[in-house]
Amino acid sequence: MPGGKKVRIAIVGMGIGKPNGRALSGHSKGEVVALCDLDSDRMTEFAKELPGDLKFYTDYKAMCRDPEIDAVFVGTPNQWHVPVALEAIKRDKHVLVTKPLADSERAAKRLVKAAEASGVVNMMSLSTRFGPACSYLSKLSREEYFGELYYARARSVRRSGIPAWNLGFIREGGGAFRDMGVHVLDAAWAILGFPTPETVTGVAGAKFGPRGIHYLRTGSVPRSVARQFKADDYAGGFIRFENGIGLQIESFWASHQPGEFQIELFGTDAGATLSPLTLFRSDGQTPLNTSVDLPRGGEASWNAIADHFITSVLEGKQASAPLRHGLIVQQMMEGLLKSANDGKELRLKIDP
Ligand SMILES: NC(=O)c1ccc[n+]([C@@H]2O[C@H](COP(=O)([O-])OP(=O)(O)OC[C@H]3O[C@@H](n4cnc5c(N)ncnc54)[C@H](O)[C@@H]3O)[C@@H](O)[C@H]2O)c1
Repeated sequence: MPGGKKVRIAIVGMGIGKPNGRALSGHSKGEVVALCDLDSDRMTEFAKELPGDLKFYTDYKAMCRDPEIDAVFVGTPNQWHVPVALEAIKRDKHVLVTKPLADSERAAKRLVKAAEASGVVNMMSLSTRFGPACSYLSKLSREEYFGELYYARARSVRRSGIPAWNLGFIREGGGAFRDMGVHVLDAAWAILGFPTPETVTGVAGAKFGPRGIHYLRTGSVPRSVARQFKADDYAGGFIRFENGIGLQIESFWASHQPGEFQIELFGTDAGATLSPLTLFRSDGQTPLNTSVDLPRGGEASWNAIADHFITSVLEGKQASAPLRHGLIVQQMMEGLLKSANDGKELRLKIDP
């Protein structure tokens, strides 16, 4: 980046690293210069899509020592987000981390502490929050279109959707809530204006994963895989915020219900649903419903994330979706899972 050139970025993890990498590489001020994965074939395959001669690393520590890398995108399984991002920060690289921030609250706190102490730009890659539909709802919320937003419901439901192509998904630190619920939780929290969470009550469990059924792509998996299931395949609960707002949250990797990805907003002047994106108001006693034609995610989300990250790095400004946001979302998730485990409401301790 010296001399006002492009931000030189390394991509770690060739799954979600691909859409992030394409957008970062396609940005006029971004350049993907290195790929890192344990699987060399996945790197070679992805490199064909990107311009220039790329470096390949199978060891993220060696990659982080490369002085020709300014920033690192972390897209490994959850359990590796913190080790990889910590190493990058130690070497003064800016970091962009996929959701969830970590596999536990403790690891998330450690990473945020290091990121904030170092002064590097640190950002979460959040495809739902940065999508056109949620960005639009957030803008309306900031403009007080809804009046006072006092309640929301957010849910992400699959019928047969347990991922297991990497076992990180189903091991400790994985699970439906950290994988999927995190999207609607983060996006709803952002639209509500980032209120401070106070208490959380949850239920959670695994009703399909350990039985080896309702898996994504494959339908069922062998007993040798199902036996390793150590996470939640559903979680639901209620979060109460300091300012009195309530948020009902649900996440199911598998269920006997139709698939759904939804946020519903309740405001004093207007309400909204994310899917389909609709605004609800009234003219006196007459209900008015407005359809808004914007996609929920897709390429526009990745481009918005890439643009915000690269601009923040070049301008030396902190991002609007810092890792601290990832930490607070993680605290809500881990609190809900702990509440489910303990069978009682939990009071959260959120650092300012
Ligand atoms: N919309 C989104 O933002 C979104 C969507 C899907 C997945 N994700 C997140 O991306 C992460 C990965 O999920 P995925 O679906 O891409 O999985 P994946 O299995 O397709 O890809 C993960 C890659 O990371 C590599 N890897 C594992 N450990 C590594 C290490 N120590 N060093 C280098 N490479 C390593 C694996 O070889 C694999 O190629 C998860 O945390 C998931 O939550 C985000």
